[in-house]
Amino acid sequence: MIELKNVQKSFADLQVLNGVSMTIQDHEIYGIIGQSGAGKSTLLRCINGLESYNGGEILVDGEPVSVHDRQSLRQLQKKMGMIFQNFNLLNRLDVYDNVALPMKFWGMKTKTPEAKKKIEGLIELVGLSDKIHARPRELSGGQKQRVAIARALVLDPEILLCDEATSALDPAITREILSLLQEINRKMGLTIIVVTHQMEVVKQICERVSFLKGGSVLAEGKPEELFVRPIPEVKQFLQEESGHLPSDGVNIQLFFTNESSDEPVITMMARELGIDFSICWAKLEDFRSSIFGSLVINIHAEDQQKVCGYLDEKKVLWEVLNDVD
Ligand SMILES: Nc1ncnc2c1ncn2[C@@H]1O[C@H](COP(=O)(O)OP(=O)(O)OP(=O)(O)O)[C@@H](O)[C@H]1O
Ligand SMILES: [Mg+2]
Repeated sequence: MIELKNVQKSFADLQVLNGVSMTIQDHEIYGIIGQSGAGKSTLLRCINGLESYNGGEILVDGEPVSVHDRQSLRQLQKKMGMIFQNFNLLNRLDVYDNVALPMKFWGMKTKTPEAKKKIEGLIELVGLSDKIHARPRELSGGQKQRVAIARALVLDPEILLCDEATSALDPAITREILSLLQEINRKMGLTIIVVTHQMEVVKQICERVSFLKGGSVLAEGKPEELFVRPIPEVKQFLQEESGHLPSDGVNIQLFFTNESSDEPVITMMARELGIDFSICWAKLEDFRSSIFGSLVINIHAEDQQKVCGYLDEKKVLWEVLNDVD
C-alpha cells in the first residue's frame, strides 16, 4: 500500500505540491491526471525517491520514503519499476540487454540459465520474442515501450510507476500498451500508478483516479465518478462543452451511471408523461467495459416539475443547466 499524507514539495520559491494526500491499495491500477505543470511527474518522483519532498509523509508498505536513508531507499526503489514517455532505452544495447540492465546495476549475472529464463520470459510476456536481438532504433514506439515495460519488471517489483507511458503513441498502440499493463496487473498482481494527461488512459484501465491541479488533489474517485459528472475544474480540463443549448425552455442534464436502471427511461418518459422535448447533447463513454453517459434535454418550462419527479422516481441523476451561454 502506498500512502501519501499531506505531501508538500517546492523548488526554490515555487510550491509544486500543496499537501497531496492519497492512498493507493495493493494490486490497484491508480491514475493521476491533470494538465501540464500540475505536479504529476514530481509526485511520482517523490514516491520513488528520485526527488525529496519538504513536508508530509510518503509510506510504501508502511516504510517512509526518505532520500536521506540511502540504504533503505535503494531497497524501496527495487520494489518500484518505472516507465516513461520517451522509453529511455540504451541505443547501443539490444532488447535482451536493455531488459537485463537493472540486473546489471544490481550486480547480478544476466547470462546464467536462470537469468536467461527470466529475461526471455519477460520479453515473451511483452510480445517481442522475435525482436530479442533488435536494437531500439529498429523498433517502433510501441515496441520500445514494451521493452521498457519488460525492463521495469526484471527485478520483480511490486509497484509499476508509469509517467505518460503512452503519450507518444497513437490511439491503437496506446490501447495495446494499456491492455498489456492490465494483463501484468492481473497476472503478476502489481500495483500500477499511471500518470497521464490523457483521459482515455484513465478511462480504459484505472480503478481510481486523482485529479491534480496546481499541486492539489481537487477530485478523487472512480473515473466514471470524475468524468461523467465532472466538477467545474475537471470539466475545464476536459474542455468539454455541451454545445449551444437552446435559450428558451429548461435544459436538464441527465447522468446515467451504474446505479441507473437499464430501462429506456427517455422514451418511457415521453410516453408516460405525454410530453415532447429535444435532445440537445449526449455522450456515452466506455469505462473499463461499462457504459456511462450523459444527456441534455430541453423541455418546456411547465413540464419541469413532472420531468424532475419522473427522473427521481427512475433514480436518474439530473441537474438543471441554468447557465446557457
Ligand atoms: N527540477 C525542477 N526544478 C525546478 N522546477 C521544477 C523541477 N521539476 C519540475 N519543476 C516545476 O514543477 C512544476 C510541476 O512540474 P511537473 O513536471 O511535476 O508537472 P507535470 O504535471 O508532470 O506536467 P507534464 O504533464 O507537462 O509532464 C512545473 O511548474 C515545473 O516547471
Ligand atoms: Mg510530467
